[in-house]
Amino acid sequence: MPGPGGDVVLSEIVDDDVEAVVALWRACGLTRPWNDPYRDLADARLGETSTVLVGRAARDLPALGDGAADSDDAGPGDVVVRAGEVVATAMAGVDGHRGWLYYVAVDPRLQGCGTGRAVVVAAEAWLAARGARAVRLMVRSTNEAVRGFYERLGYVDQDCVVLGRPLGAPDARDAGR
Ligand SMILES: CC(C)(COP(=O)(O)OP(=O)(O)OC[C@H]1O[C@@H](n2cnc3c(N)ncnc32)[C@H](O)[C@@H]1OP(=O)(O)O)[C@@H](O)C(=O)NCCC(=O)NCCS
Repeated sequence: MPGPGGDVVLSEIVDDDVEAVVALWRACGLTRPWNDPYRDLADARLGETSTVLVGRAARDLPALGDGAADSDDAGPGDVVVRAGEVVATAMAGVDGHRGWLYYVAVDPRLQGCGTGRAVVVAAEAWLAARGARAVRLMVRSTNEAVRGFYERLGYVDQDCVVLGRPLGAPDARDAGR
């Protein structure tokens, strides 16, 4: 699966990606103290109806996107991402009724140049190939800024309130959230 402009190649996660994926989620502010990202990753990789798609730099890349300004150690055109580095993710799973997306993330140095769209489109295709006829995702109320991104991709407010409770004995992961 080639990414935007051939700069990012998308495929399913492999064992060697785990540390880089968790680091990317942390850099993108997607981890929470009550969710162990390693366990989330392991759970998603367990079944045949869920996965984590990973985008890797197809070649050495300069900071391309809006995050370029944050790369204060690098000058214009300097390589900041090495070929093969993990730069994007999307966790996808079919729950027997719909497809769901989690952990959509793009390396801040490459944001704003089509990688987010590419990884979401790839995850949608992965879900559709496994029978999902609709896709849903949750956006934290503290992450209002990202709604414009999903709207550009055709996502609309489903006019639902998400309710939840832990199952089984509470643990540090769930803590009632
Ligand atoms: C959200 C995120 C994945 C977007 O990735 P990206 O590579 O920057 O997005 P793209 O460049 O592919 O943008 C796709 C389209 O959305 C638009 N877009 C991107 N972010 C936007 C925003 N915050 N508001 C409005 N539009 C936005 C782009 O302009 C582009 O429009 P176009 O295709 O019509 O030109 C990335 O910003 C990110 O990792 N954020 C931090 C983690 C996060 O919040 N994830 C979502 C959790 S629910």
